[in-house]
Amino acid sequence: MRTQVAIIGAGPAGLLLSHLLHLNGIESIVLESRTQAEIEATIRAGVLEQGTMDILNNAGVGARMQAEGALHHGIELAFGGRRHRIDLTELTGKAITVYPQHEVIKDLVAARLAAQGQLLFEVNGVELHGVDTAAPSVNFIHRGEAARIEADFVIGCDGYHGVARPAMPGQGRQDFKRDYGFGWFGVLVESAPSSDELIYARHERGFALVSTRTPTVQRLYFQCDPADHVDNWSDDRIWAELHARLENNEGWRVNEGHIFQKNIIGMRSFVSTPMQSGRLFLAGDAAHIVPPTGAKGMNLAVSDVALLAQGLEQFYRQGSEERLQGYTAAALKRVWRAEYFSWWMTSLLHTFADATPFQREVQRAELECVVSSRAMATALAENYVGAF
Ligand code: FAD
Ligand code: DHB
Repeated sequence: MRTQVAIIGAGPAGLLLSHLLHLNGIESIVLESRTQAEIEATIRAGVLEQGTMDILNNAGVGARMQAEGALHHGIELAFGGRRHRIDLTELTGKAITVYPQHEVIKDLVAARLAAQGQLLFEVNGVELHGVDTAAPSVNFIHRGEAARIEADFVIGCDGYHGVARPAMPGQGRQDFKRDYGFGWFGVLVESAPSSDELIYARHERGFALVSTRTPTVQRLYFQCDPADHVDNWSDDRIWAELHARLENNEGWRVNEGHIFQKNIIGMRSFVSTPMQSGRLFLAGDAAHIVPPTGAKGMNLAVSDVALLAQGLEQFYRQGSEERLQGYTAAALKRVWRAEYFSWWMTSLLHTFADATPFQREVQRAELECVVSSRAMATALAENYVGAF
C-alpha cells in the first residue's frame, strides 16, 4: 500500500489529523489496534476548550457536539465545607463544553468513513522503518495477513503505550516525568446531575470531582491508590467515600444512582522531546501526558494535530518544510503551559501522603487565595479555558 501520511492510532489525535488532511486533499491511512466498537466505547475525557470546539466546528464535525454538549460558564472549588464559584466567562470571556471523548471519536469515525477514508482496525505487530529517510514505511498484520504501507510521513498518535515513541532515534532525546503516587477512581452513574457545574473538591480524605455526561448520567471521580482494584470497591463503599469528601455545610449532597462503570487511572506528568525526528512526528498522549485535573489531555491532542495539519499542508502545497521543522517548538509552548497548569491544579487539590502539616496548611491557604483574589481566580480561569 502507498499513501502520503501513515497515522498510527485512532484516538482523537489520529482521527482528527486524518480528517484535517482529507479536507486539504492529503491522503492518509490510519492503523488502529482495537476494534471500532472498542474505541467508540472507551470512557475518558469530558471537557473541551473553546479552541478545541472551534477546530472541530471548522472541520465540519461539530454538529452533534453543538447540539448535545453542555456549555459551562463556571466551575466550583469546594473545600472546608463550602463551595466557591469561579466564573470562567466573566473572568475570561470564554466557556468550556462538556462532551464525552468517545462521542468525539464517534463523530470523527463517521466523518472518515463517509469520506471513504482508510481506517484499518484490529491491526497488530506495527513496526516503523526508515523514519530518518524520505521514504518511511510501516509493517503490520491486518486480519492475519502481513501488510506494509509506504508513505512520505509517519505520525505516531498511538498514545502513551504506543510503538511510535520508542521508534524515535534515541540520540538527543530528553524525557521529563513526574509520578504522583495516586490515581483517580472514576464512576459513571445513572442519575440526574448533582450540580449544574463541575465541582473540584479538596478534602483530607482525598480529592473528589463531580462532572456530568448527559441529563441522566453523572461522571464522578475520587483520588485513590493507583494499585487498588475496582473489585475492592462496592457501590456502598464508593458512595460513603464520595459523601465524606463532598459533604457540605450548605446541606448539598451528591445524587446517588446505579453505578454502571468503574475504572482506575494513574496520574503522571510526562513530556518527551523532541516531538519529531526526520519523517516521524508524535502527537497527543504519544508525546506527553498530563494528570487529568486540568482537563487538558484531549485538548492538547487536538492542538498538536492542528499544527501538524498546517505543516503538512504547507509541505504539499508549497513544497516548504518550514512549519514542519518548527512543529516541536510550536507544540511544546502549549504543552508546557498545560503541563504547568495540570501539575498546579493537581498539587492544589489532592492529598499528598508525604505532606507535612505545614504543607497542608499552605495548600489550604493557597485555595483561599484563589477564591478570594480576582487575579488568582483569573489565572486559573485563563488556564482552564485555554486562553493562552
Ligand atoms: P489515545 O486516545 O490514547 O489514542 C491512541 C490510540 O492508539 C488508541 O485508540 C490505541 O488503541 C491506539 N494504539 C496504541 N498503540 C497502538 C499500536 N501499536 N498500533 C495501533 N494502534 C495503537 N483530557 C481532556 O482534554 N479533558 C478531560 O476532561 C480529560 N479527562 C480524562 C479523564 C480520564 C479518566 C482519562 C484517562 C483521560 C482524560 N483526559 C482528558 C486525557 C485524554 O483522554 C487523552 O489525553 C486523549 O485520549 C489523548 O488522545 P490521543 O489520540 O493522543 O491518544
Ligand atoms: C472530566 C475529566 C477531567 O479530567 C476533568 O478535569 C473534568 C471533567 C470528565 O471526565 O468529565
